[in-house]
Amino acid sequence: MDDLEAVAAAVRVARGVVVLTGAGVSAESGLPTFRGDGGLWRGHDPMRLATPEAFDLDPALVSEWYDLRRMAAEAAEPNAAHVAMAELERHVVAADGRFALLTQNVDRLHQRAGSERVVELHGSLLVWRDHRSGRRVTPEPTPFQTHPLPGPDGGWLRPDVVWFGEYLSEAALAAAASALTWCDLFLVVGTSAVVYPAAGLVGRAAAAGAVTVEVNVAATPAHVDHRLAGPAAVVLPRLVEAAFGNVA
Ligand code: OAD
Repeated sequence: MDDLEAVAAAVRVARGVVVLTGAGVSAESGLPTFRGDGGLWRGHDPMRLATPEAFDLDPALVSEWYDLRRMAAEAAEPNAAHVAMAELERHVVAADGRFALLTQNVDRLHQRAGSERVVELHGSLLVWRDHRSGRRVTPEPTPFQTHPLPGPDGGWLRPDVVWFGEYLSEAALAAAASALTWCDLFLVVGTSAVVYPAAGLVGRAAAAGAVTVEVNVAATPAHVDHRLAGPAAVVLPRLVEAAFGNVA
């Protein structure tokens, strides 16, 4: 039995499935990953733009970078990996199992593909908030005319995403912790598994007794029971088909 068949068998019997996703899942929708070959944006390291310090120093620059990413996410379409994960959820839930999709992605492509039990660990690019009051707004899906835009309460608008040095929301952390209590199969897909606390979830799932599986084009530092190498948009439809026999 190869790894795909072994994982498909584990998917079929699982009563609680948790999936953790990262930027690799959206790569085939044309959205660049963080640590891939995307390189610099106008000479800036994206990793250094994703910080409160960068926003304090140059809110216009950070606003523009996130607005470009927001427009790219709006223009992108979910790919076969997103669709297969939504299909997996439907199968698991239809069999009275439990399911959670924990994503580090901020592009909303999982929801657009039909996933319902999504926990946005790092927030969403499509929602912004006043950096002083925290009041959230959902801007129209057209580019901002100026950068930064004034917020509703006298601050600047910033994306409602988690930056390096910031905490994940209590609600997201609680949802992830709860999922680990009932998870017996943990899939980690398209993430470099280096950014905590998300990167720690696979180890916690394994410690709690879950079977762990990584789907990635390259091996990562994550310790898992099975590795399915390849693009998520190829591997996940195959896995769902091997487990349930059909992909909508
Ligand atoms: P990374 O860019 O760090 O990692 C992307 C992962 O996807 C790598 O392991 C690639 O090998 C893999 N990959 C690329 N293309 C793939 C494909 N077609 N199919 C499957 N895997 C593929 O992105 P993340 O792990 O999501 O946080 O990064 C984690 C966090 O770091 C992000 O949420 C963001 C970033 O800085 C914040 O902004 C706080």
